[in-house]
Amino acid sequence: MRHLLSAADLSLSEITEILDLAEEMSTVQDRPVKKLPALRGRTVVNLFFEDSTRTRSSFEIAGKWLSADVINVSAKGSSMSKGESLRDTVLTVAAMGVDALVIRHHASGAPWQASHWIDAHVLNAGDGTHEHPTQALLDAFTLRRHFRSADPSSAERNGQASDFTGKTIAIVGDLTHSRVARSNVLLLQTLGAEVVLVAPPTLMPSGVDSWPAANTTDFDEVLGACDAVMMLRVQRERMSGGYFPSAREYTIGYGLTRARLGALRPGAAICHPGPMNRGLEISADAADAANSLILDQVAAGVSIRMSVLYQILGGAEESVASPVREAAVR
Ligand code: CP
Repeated sequence: MRHLLSAADLSLSEITEILDLAEEMSTVQDRPVKKLPALRGRTVVNLFFEDSTRTRSSFEIAGKWLSADVINVSAKGSSMSKGESLRDTVLTVAAMGVDALVIRHHASGAPWQASHWIDAHVLNAGDGTHEHPTQALLDAFTLRRHFRSADPSSAERNGQASDFTGKTIAIVGDLTHSRVARSNVLLLQTLGAEVVLVAPPTLMPSGVDSWPAANTTDFDEVLGACDAVMMLRVQRERMSGGYFPSAREYTIGYGLTRARLGALRPGAAICHPGPMNRGLEISADAADAANSLILDQVAAGVSIRMSVLYQILGGAEESVASPVREAAVR
């Protein structure tokens, strides 16, 4: 894998390899010394032109736990604020000899463009309303663990597809502005899950009927049939007009309220990529419920980003068998 730009670029075997390696990487989180030598001498730059808590810090932690040198550059505080273009910024940073750029940008396609300007590896950390592939990978990692803990035999059945085959996952809310939804639809389709998109008509993307997913405007219709519900943040900062009459009406139609929590299948997983608007798309009862995986998703972010950085920077030619086991015998 040279770059990670879209979930569509990943085959089932590549996804499986990333998730399996992330399982091994996750053991580092429980160690007193959280350090593997795998990416010693490599330099990763986090180039963030949009705010982030989870993605930026987990990419930084992931790189550092793999012994890479990690530098953070954000629009505020960089020469972008003096009018330097994206292209000049990317070329400037790449000219310093970095191995990988992790890019978040408000323009859809910015990481793809960057990958054509430079030789370094490019990882998409969220571009506009287009994609957020590492979010979809960490969501799949979290759900795979959840499904396996509910049915331990599923891991031994015919490969990884069985973890998601027959599972119904609803993605609910502001679909129009959601890069998380787009990457998840692509990844979950490859994994063999049934995806149902739920949104008010005003937040249903145009052309959604051609997506590899069912869609409905009636959340209550699908609630009891889901193995997982993935709630999306209402992205008010990307909304120029009135997409719904009021916050209260949005919650009545599309919020995961206490009442809807009670209508979920027992054990159905609750996910949210964060940051959450508590009281709008998700109630505190749902966010903090026993079957909420929201903090598991955050923890998975580090493991997945370690796995992806290693796959891209550490092991392309050699075996990616186990940097964790290799480190253990040193
Ligand atoms: N899920 C996600 O991308 O969160 P951040 O914006 O905090 O990185």
